[in-house]
Amino acid sequence: MAFDPSSLAALSARYPAVPARLRHRLTDHPLFAIERLTALARALPQTSVEYNSGDLPIGQDPEKTPMNGLTPEETVRRIAENKSWIVLKNIEQDKDYAALLESCLADVAPIAKTATGDMHMREGFIFVSSPSSVTPFHMDPEHNILLQIKGAKDFTLFPNDSETIVSDDAHEAFHRAGGHRNLPYKKEYESLAETIDLAPGDALYVPVKTPHWVKVGPEVSISLSVTWRSKVSDAEAHLRRANGWLRAQGRTPPRPGAAPLRDRAAIFASRLAARLNRA
Ligand SMILES: [Fe+2]
Repeated sequence: MAFDPSSLAALSARYPAVPARLRHRLTDHPLFAIERLTALARALPQTSVEYNSGDLPIGQDPEKTPMNGLTPEETVRRIAENKSWIVLKNIEQDKDYAALLESCLADVAPIAKTATGDMHMREGFIFVSSPSSVTPFHMDPEHNILLQIKGAKDFTLFPNDSETIVSDDAHEAFHRAGGHRNLPYKKEYESLAETIDLAPGDALYVPVKTPHWVKVGPEVSISLSVTWRSKVSDAEAHLRRANGWLRAQGRTPPRPGAAPLRDRAAIFASRLAARLNRA
């Protein structure tokens, strides 16, 4: 088992809408040794590696994110001194990491299945970060459990239903091709924030589209993200796409949840459009 059984009970009480703290047992796993991660960075296709300077403000303009001038391998190998942040994406492309991801998801599967049906798009990400580096303010489209393996992280999250923080327009832009996950940040959001401190052995369930930013502690940080999609996350994405399309036609769709029957019709239409596009 990757997670402590008692923390799975806590997840069960909160999934899918509310963040939950968990404990895991992977801190000494050999797949998180720097040499093994360096080999993974070398083996993954370029499109599966994203890295940049970790010395960033919370509200980083994605167009202006500075690079660190190194290769992915050098970035991982010298992470203690190069002030960088790197994410190794879709680690399931390597069979050892695929098995690790599946072992984590197997623990969660009974809870997820009961609440949100089958888990699909099962993807794993590993974040390797220099001391004090910042992941700017953003949101992600999937159900996510972040497992802290090495070093410490302060994970600051915000309500995912606040129109002040993320407007409906911004949600819709997120699902348009080319929309970046980074969000503009304002100091006044601070009163709505909750900061969860994560040490090795801690994990955090982050609900779909929860805005957050992350600050690494005084040592190198290594974290694993295990993610999945469900009929709930799919429906949210389809509704935002449908509403974005209507807004582009000059209409003003109701806020999600304000007209449930109409939302269901919009989700159905977006699903159908996606299927026709694929055909
Ligand atoms: Fe994130």
